Amino acid sequence: MIRISPARQAVRLYHEVFASDPVVAVSAPGRVNLIGEHTDYNGGPVLPVALQRRTIVVAGPADGWEFVSSVDGVVRRAGLAGAMPREWTGYLVGVARELERIGRAPAGARVAVASSVPIGAGLSSSAALTVAGAGSLARLAGRRLDPATLVDVASRAEHEQVGVRGGRMDQTIAVYGRRDTALLFETGSGTLRRVPMPGRIWIIETGVSHKLTGGELNERRRECEAALGRLRERWPSLNFLADLPAGDLAAAEALLPEPLRRRVRHVVTETARVRLAVEVLERRDLAALGAILVEGHESLRRDYESSCAEADLIVESAVAHGAWGARLTGAGWGGAVLMLAPDDRLRDVLRGVAADFAARFGRKPVSWSTRAAGGVRREALGS
Ligand code: GLA
Repeated sequence: MIRISPARQAVRLYHEVFASDPVVAVSAPGRVNLIGEHTDYNGGPVLPVALQRRTIVVAGPADGWEFVSSVDGVVRRAGLAGAMPREWTGYLVGVARELERIGRAPAGARVAVASSVPIGAGLSSSAALTVAGAGSLARLAGRRLDPATLVDVASRAEHEQVGVRGGRMDQTIAVYGRRDTALLFETGSGTLRRVPMPGRIWIIETGVSHKLTGGELNERRRECEAALGRLRERWPSLNFLADLPAGDLAAAEALLPEPLRRRVRHVVTETARVRLAVEVLERRDLAALGAILVEGHESLRRDYESSCAEADLIVESAVAHGAWGARLTGAGWGGAVLMLAPDDRLRDVLRGVAADFAARFGRKPVSWSTRAAGGVRREALGS
């Protein structure tokens, strides 16, 4: 089978469905977060990289709004007023509404989408869609968005319009990703710093689809807000959970009931792991990074309770077969594991994980690799 690129796929789809040619094309990557999970809405640091897999949004002018995706080829019509569509088009309607709010939306659009980012795998297919969508629709309106505005429009589309209240990590890396580097994003201060990420990253999908609309992420966020409220009674100047010094963790835990105690423990220890990860990556020490990933996974499993049996098994099996380390990445409750392994162990690790997974769950997990790649970009329209 010859696979055509998402860019060509989207252009062809547009042509077939709308019987004309699109006038703009913008793509954005999915992401894998190396470490720093659930810290971005707690004012902490995150360390994501952009995937080589991307989503492309091509668009042309229209009076109303029409959307089609290569997933099913079905044309969906929507208005910007009224109820939010509950499927994928909601993300683009959200983007269009946010663009309208700042006076940069086109009057309408025909939009075709194609993607190589797996959906519901914890790899930010939604941010790839909103960032590429915002870039594409703004250009259609004759406007260019600077990177900060692009992050803002895409984040607000997801948080305010769709109603999934994560942080800004996914949209930020989809905009600022760069080849062979990870991005240290200090969400408390908003600062960005590039860190070398020279290796190949393996993604092993659990096959358990996480739907954030299921509400677990919003629930964790509420728990973190409740914990912060209580801790502020003791430390009134504490702005974010991630600002709690590790030395005060025991005192903080003593003030909190379960499960808030464990949620705070995760956020504080995870923040420390990001700082350590940056140090080891500056020395390009992927073996040391692997050990940090394993600790991070354990914290998600035990303290944040966002893991699942499939991810736990993949991590355990990968390490047993010689990986440097692995952990669940993204929001959790399913999704994908990221894994780092030395080249000479790779075959054994992938085979071992596949066999252990099949023995327990009766199917083989999908695995593939990526390097750190670039962020949002305009694509050529020639097909
Ligand atoms: C989702 C959110 C991100 C982040 C992660 C967990 O991907 O969109 O902002 O909170 O979960 O680290």
